[in-house]
Amino acid sequence: MKKLAAAALAGVMVLTFGMTAMAEGDVLVMATNAEFPPYEYREGDDIVGIDAEVAGLIAEKLGMELQIEDMAFDSVLAAVQTGKADIAMAGITVTEDRQMMVNFTDTYTKATQMIIVTEDSEIASPDDLTGKTIGVQLGTTGDIYVDDIEDATAERFSKGFEAVQALLQGKVDAVVIDGEPAKVFVSQNEGLKLLDDPFTEEEYAIAISKDNEELLEKVNTALNELKEEGEFQKVIDKYIASDDAAEAETEAATEAK
Ligand code: ARG
Repeated sequence: MKKLAAAALAGVMVLTFGMTAMAEGDVLVMATNAEFPPYEYREGDDIVGIDAEVAGLIAEKLGMELQIEDMAFDSVLAAVQTGKADIAMAGITVTEDRQMMVNFTDTYTKATQMIIVTEDSEIASPDDLTGKTIGVQLGTTGDIYVDDIEDATAERFSKGFEAVQALLQGKVDAVVIDGEPAKVFVSQNEGLKLLDDPFTEEEYAIAISKDNEELLEKVNTALNELKEEGEFQKVIDKYIASDDAAEAETEAATEAK
């Protein structure tokens, strides 16, 4: 009961595995993969993070109730394509291939792929990844990127954190993952460091079915209002530590224009 109340308070209802989502009416169903702090992760039975909270605020503006469905990252776009979810919000990078599958809203965050290595690693820049074994989360842009590195072998994990564990165990030489989760994983584990050079510039957006232009428009309006009202930035500030805040703020301000 207590858990239920907490979830209701957060304005978020987490569907348990196996339940079918009603992608209609007053409920806005969001597909995500809650393995991606600070954007979406589990805190007890709740799914929290920037995406979860922003989606909650969007749902509120639409007069809808948000329901979050947690699934593998490589299923979130299919979920909106098949109508199992109304939106997918999972730190999803806009790419040309994905634009053929779904519509994207305006972008809401700039991101980069970063490299995590052990503190004693000889890998010092993206160039040093040639011929290495690299841990990635399955189906992410990191996965796609590593595919292009000469002679490199990608070890694909269903969760980003599992790739980090493999690095700690010496099973992979490096992990390629989005910058903010990379910072979280490095801060939570001894003996790891983040290389300075980011090597891709990416942008996150919310994915919506190509058959639902109306929802795309509504979500875009709500998202842009949240940016203008400063509510979006408040959520960022809550989840991204103050030394990074200046950077994130500039990005959000740029986005808002
Ligand atoms: N930005 C990357 C991509 O779009 C990784 C996103 C992973 N998100 C997640 N919730 N696990 O491919």
